[in-house]
Amino acid sequence: MRIVTVVGARPQFIKMAPVSKELRKHFDEIVIHTGQHYDYEMDKIFFEQLNIPKPDYYLEVGSGTHGYQTGEMLKQIEKVLLKENPDLVLVYGDTNSTLAGALAAVKLHIKVAHIEAGLRSFNKKMPEEVNRVLTDHISNFLFAPTETAVKNLYNEGIKEGVYLTGDVMYDALLYNIKIARKNSNILKELGLKSREYLLATVHRAENTDNRKNLENIIEAFIKSGELIVFPAHPRTQKYLKAYKLLKKLEKAGNVLLIPPVGYLDMLVLEENARKILTDSGGVQKEAYFLKVPCITLRERTEWVETVEDGWNILVGADKEKILNAIRDFNPNGKVYTYKFGDGKASEKIVKTIEETKNEI
Ligand code: UD1
Ligand code: UDP
Repeated sequence: MRIVTVVGARPQFIKMAPVSKELRKHFDEIVIHTGQHYDYEMDKIFFEQLNIPKPDYYLEVGSGTHGYQTGEMLKQIEKVLLKENPDLVLVYGDTNSTLAGALAAVKLHIKVAHIEAGLRSFNKKMPEEVNRVLTDHISNFLFAPTETAVKNLYNEGIKEGVYLTGDVMYDALLYNIKIARKNSNILKELGLKSREYLLATVHRAENTDNRKNLENIIEAFIKSGELIVFPAHPRTQKYLKAYKLLKKLEKAGNVLLIPPVGYLDMLVLEENARKILTDSGGVQKEAYFLKVPCITLRERTEWVETVEDGWNILVGADKEKILNAIRDFNPNGKVYTYKFGDGKASEKIVKTIEETKNEI
């Protein structure tokens, strides 16, 4: 059986690392990289650090509007699928690369497996929500990370092909955290001490492309007076410049703006932060796994367990709410990582494919 994996954005490289390792014990895998992310620190650094197999096809689609990006990917992925004629196409998460991969496959009557199926923020203004809903509805295998995800699918009438496997990002974290603790020098490099800083990431369109929202977030960071380490996504760097917020940050002096970091450095920065501020899906979960309080700069989250268990608070881009949370949000209950599986989601996914391969 031949399996094509389609990836293109930072979190997908992290998600595919444990799955690909497992998959290659049983199947031939062909990797298509759409080129959605392409800067070294958004792309190659992950392939190098996580020993991810080199892509067989690099489509170099790059940046652009949703229509351009998704359309260009669709055209090029279709060409590869026609040439390779795989039995199954594997897609991850909720980016434009996910939707393009699934759509190209389904139209050619190739079976689709969606890893991280069933998540919902119930906000269709977020491009990720559109991508995940559409991908789920055209997938044959829906690998759900949580029970909530299974319920969401059920509520939309998707009952067949759904497998509760746990979260592959939890697999990735468990495998890499020890390596990160041993090999990363990031705290030393940045002159940081454990628990003496906050960590922030911001990149979602609803925050970066909206001037008021990004201004509110940055003003809250500055006003907090806390040392905030802020590895900024290229999208955010672009808008910080466009909205003339860079100068404000420089003048304030308490925000350490740095380029995006590799996964191992990121895990160490997360584990040692006193609190994390983020609009990232993956970072919210990692904060939970590592028992670090998370202040989420969004109105809604698809990772509801982290909020229900008290370790995550949703503050949107509201300056006062952000400041209050920086000051007062101090959860101290338990985390229940079993809700995200047992660190063997990748094995379960591959086992399921193996067991059902005759139906494919
Ligand atoms: C994408 C996903 C988002 C995911 C994020 C992970 C979609 C719709 N969004 O958002 O769900 O959370 O990836 O990080 O698929 N850029 C660079 N260099 C790069 C990559 C991007 O400079 O290597 C800049 C470009 O100016 C580009 C902008 O960042 O226009 C946005 O990139 P894009 O891939 O369109 O979306 P992300 O914000 O990265
Ligand atoms: N990440 C990283 N370096 C950074 C920022 C994030 O390695 O500078 C990792 C983070 O640890 C998590 C993943 O990227 O595993 C999350 O991806 P991102 O925030 O880009 O996208 P999202 O999860 O919101 O889709």
